[in-house]
Amino acid sequence: MIIIGSDHGGLQLKGDLKSYLERRGFAVSDAGTDNDSSVDYPDFGLKVAEAVAGGDAERGILVCGTGIGMSIAANKVPGIRAALVTDTFMARMAKEHNNANILVLGGRVMDSQKGCELVGAWLDAEFEGGRHQSRLDKITEIEKKYS
Ligand code: RB5
Repeated sequence: MIIIGSDHGGLQLKGDLKSYLERRGFAVSDAGTDNDSSVDYPDFGLKVAEAVAGGDAERGILVCGTGIGMSIAANKVPGIRAALVTDTFMARMAKEHNNANILVLGGRVMDSQKGCELVGAWLDAEFEGGRHQSRLDKITEIEKKYS
């Protein structure tokens, strides 16, 4: 299951990504927001990050205006590797090298077609492991040092 969340700045792109994922046959859980009233992105970043870190969702997608705030917030949750991406190379690398378990997009900086392309590139890529796993292990050590 993929959990998806946004603030008001990412609402429209979130809806388009949800339709894209459902067309591709993924089960999608929508963590909100569900209207264009102004909300605080950390509330939705936390919901999605906790669902992924706790194992209720296999992976997550977050959208705010730029993607910056959501990625900062989600990466505070231990076990989360949230990657803000703006092109297909970054989206693919986010999985191949970083094994990102949350993809973050900016709803005000790309159209829906681009957003779907980036999500598709991330979903279709495979984590390469090996030296990249050792690097992720070092990130886990950083989390432990400061927890
Ligand atoms: C909301 O106006 C905006 O700040 C938010 O969507 C996001 O871009 C924050 O990083």
